[in-house]
Amino acid sequence: MKKRSLPAAARRADPARTGNAPPAKTRENRRGSVAAAAGRERTPAEAGHGTCPAWRRQRRERLAEARTESRRELAARWPLLPREALPQEDFSVQVAPRGYVEPLVEELGARVITVRGRLVLAHGQAAAAWAQNVWTAPRWLDAPSIGQAVRQLTALQRNWRGHALPESGHQRRQALMEAALPHVASRPLTFGAPAPAAPLGAFALWDHDLLLASPDTTSPFADGEMTFVENRDEPPGRAYLKLWETFTLDGVQPQPGELCVDLGAAPGGWTWVLARLGARVFSLDKAELAPLVGCMPNVNHCLGSGFGLTPEQVGRIDWLFSDMICYPARLLQVVRQWIAARACAHAVCTLKFQAGTDHAVSREFAAIPGGQLRHLSCNKHELTFIWHEAAAQRQRA
Ligand SMILES: C[S@@+](CC[C@H](N)C(=O)[O-])C[C@H]1O[C@@H](n2cnc3c(N)ncnc32)[C@H](O)[C@@H]1O
Repeated sequence: MKKRSLPAAARRADPARTGNAPPAKTRENRRGSVAAAAGRERTPAEAGHGTCPAWRRQRRERLAEARTESRRELAARWPLLPREALPQEDFSVQVAPRGYVEPLVEELGARVITVRGRLVLAHGQAAAAWAQNVWTAPRWLDAPSIGQAVRQLTALQRNWRGHALPESGHQRRQALMEAALPHVASRPLTFGAPAPAAPLGAFALWDHDLLLASPDTTSPFADGEMTFVENRDEPPGRAYLKLWETFTLDGVQPQPGELCVDLGAAPGGWTWVLARLGARVFSLDKAELAPLVGCMPNVNHCLGSGFGLTPEQVGRIDWLFSDMICYPARLLQVVRQWIAARACAHAVCTLKFQAGTDHAVSREFAAIPGGQLRHLSCNKHELTFIWHEAAAQRQRA
């Protein structure tokens, strides 16, 4: 493989040096040092699947069927507990992402007390990576009337959002309670604005006259679902929302001029986010970027495999990103290699699972000092690993 220095490529991509002119897209520029990626497979997007409405409809239908089936199975496995068996102390409510109760239940293992819909009652407070929101101070409240339920909730705090629990069969009654509570705005967030700071309580009508409620939760968004005012014109696809969510939740993002490597970058949503923040982006994929992203002045794209790029070839960078479709175990090797070489200050990577969820590898990611693993609102059967060198140093000190 022909060597190519990333800083040199990045220098060319520096808008200050290029005077904002798009870098020349020569054959050499596009293929770079990693062009030797032989035997490249076509991604579904390249094969045109992602854009075929019939294929997308079939996929949606298959997913909906699988979810219904999984809901039935869970209900059979976790029959409704009698009231006297409901937990009273040292438990939490972990809210599963839509369609992903199973991985959450598997991750929690022996901590699971019971499962109802997407609510998993678990021993202890520690948040699971697959939990999109955790109710950390849950309690049972008698709710003989809507008025009494509302009075009890507002005595605990002002801001509440109901969690829809169709399994209880009391959606209408819960909706009346929600309508009687003080209004809580839930507008989509504009990227760049901070996440709401006010605490948000969560509740669900467990039974006709029994509420499960928690004034404290780990997310300021109902069910941990963050929605943005989307940009439907520029970024190709919706993967860019993963980075918007990561940076908003984490409060740390690439600064203008910082050097980012984006592995598995095509069609270019993440690269677009990074370049829009003013960072210099060296993107790498077996496929091309969308033209609108590829011609951004601070973007330099190479065709090739992310596994062919080593920290030694590149030198120190600020941010390592990977959204490559690959086995999580393989990604773990890449991440460990970059961290061990002290070659990056931050990393954001997507662990993409196939049929099953590789919890053993997830645990290895979660054990990396300075790292955290979470399921973002727009993650599917995926988890996002976020790592900061400074946090690792603090943890070790
Ligand atoms: C989910 S897409 C990435 C989407 C991208 N983050 C965005 O925002 O547009 C996954 C990409 O990983 C790429 N990929 C898969 N294996 C790869 C490898 N070994 N090296 C580089 N890219 C790879 C695929 O070509 C595909 O474009």
